[in-house]
Amino acid sequence: MAPSMHAWDDETNLFAHSVIGYAIERLRLSKDTQWGAHPAAELRAAIDHALTPEGVGGLEALRLFRDVLLPACRPMDDPMNLAYVPTAPSVASTMFDLVVSASSIFGGNWEAGAGAIAAENQALRWLSDLAGFPPEAGGVFVSGGSAANLSALVTAREVFTERRGSRPARYTVAATEEVHASVRAAAKVMDVDVLAVPTDEFGRMTGDALQEALDGRDSDALTGLFAVVATGGTTNAGVVDELDTIADVCAARGLWMHVDGAYGLAALCSTLARHRFHGIERADSFGVDPHKWLFAPYDSAALVYRDPTPAAATHAQHGAYLDAVNRGDWNPSDYAYHLSRRARGLPLWFGLATYGTQAYTDAVDSAIRTAHEFAAEVAARPGFRLLLPPELSVVLFTRDGWTLEQYSAWSKQRASEGRYLVVPTSWRGEPCLRICIVHPRTDLAAITEILDDLATWAAT
Ligand SMILES: Cc1ncc(COP(=O)(O)O)c(C=O)c1O
Repeated sequence: MAPSMHAWDDETNLFAHSVIGYAIERLRLSKDTQWGAHPAAELRAAIDHALTPEGVGGLEALRLFRDVLLPACRPMDDPMNLAYVPTAPSVASTMFDLVVSASSIFGGNWEAGAGAIAAENQALRWLSDLAGFPPEAGGVFVSGGSAANLSALVTAREVFTERRGSRPARYTVAATEEVHASVRAAAKVMDVDVLAVPTDEFGRMTGDALQEALDGRDSDALTGLFAVVATGGTTNAGVVDELDTIADVCAARGLWMHVDGAYGLAALCSTLARHRFHGIERADSFGVDPHKWLFAPYDSAALVYRDPTPAAATHAQHGAYLDAVNRGDWNPSDYAYHLSRRARGLPLWFGLATYGTQAYTDAVDSAIRTAHEFAAEVAARPGFRLLLPPELSVVLFTRDGWTLEQYSAWSKQRASEGRYLVVPTSWRGEPCLRICIVHPRTDLAAITEILDDLATWAAT
């Protein structure tokens, strides 16, 4: 089949319906597919014929994707995918992502994308209200938590330098060891030092520990300290830093407080966990990824500033070709390091509008409840040890006597069979298993069977 590139004829119409039909089929069936990360050489050979001067035609390209390429991609929204931070996009948000693509929206400035941006801003407003941010708060959807952290920290540094009136010899950001790797990566990109703040027994940063870490440094080492990154749900343990007391220290020292909530701040809408974020309303910025735990497809991360003005002063790009455009009411490009952008907040907005915000509360609460019930099961089982009481939806536990090698061998075997994905990590230097639940359809009985499996598993 040869769909035309830009015209709309009968063949193109048929082809477009095939693709949409396939997308729907994927949505319905993705959990049933057997997948495996085939070696690069094998995949390369299988699609060797695809790119030619004539093309192979739309249906053959779709066949290659369906039969060869997709089976080599893990369905990240499988309710039994319990590793990393998985995803669980809703039907409405996923289908609407197709509409966003079909609409060719430039989401960078108001002149081009006002309608899309108005809806994105409404979704950002929902998040801002949940955080208790003031009416003037605002921001932008970026590609992920990493991009959100980088853009927030660049803004924070600019504000600091402006206020100081000159650049220090070195810039420094304070964070704990539990902070996500992307914060250290951002510091590297920015050529900024990271001041390590010790955590408490649960892996949390507290205001006291932050204060002590700062008191323990001579003032030279702190002249370039411009921001503190707190975490609203650590990736490894799902633990929330003590935001309120951290805000006290930041306020007293005039430090920018950024809360990385890529995973955990979704629980701002939870009835079970909202209290853990007390103090977020005093942060200068926060990030939360709808593609993690707010049921939107990749890639979507909300970055929100309490006062967006300095962010725009930091990130707005200028040039004769840009300044000629009427920037209008709100230019998402101005609030992060990017220019062209997909209106990637729209699938979240569409999902919220379709299902209502209460459905989000219920879905997040359901994952938290399942994680807590699973943790109780672990604690009650002989032969297992719960390492931390879960705060959100991450559970860390050990099987008595197992080494990292045993966890890894078990994990690899079960992953390759496609039964479930649970990968080892470590807590306080001890190897352990970690599960992270974001899918409201992750079933307690099914994950409890993982414990039965672990109790009887022996390497073959
Ligand atoms: C707390 C936290 N911050 C940042 C990130 C990075 O987010 P992304 O992968 O969307 O860039 C993650 C990813 O898991 C995370 O858990």
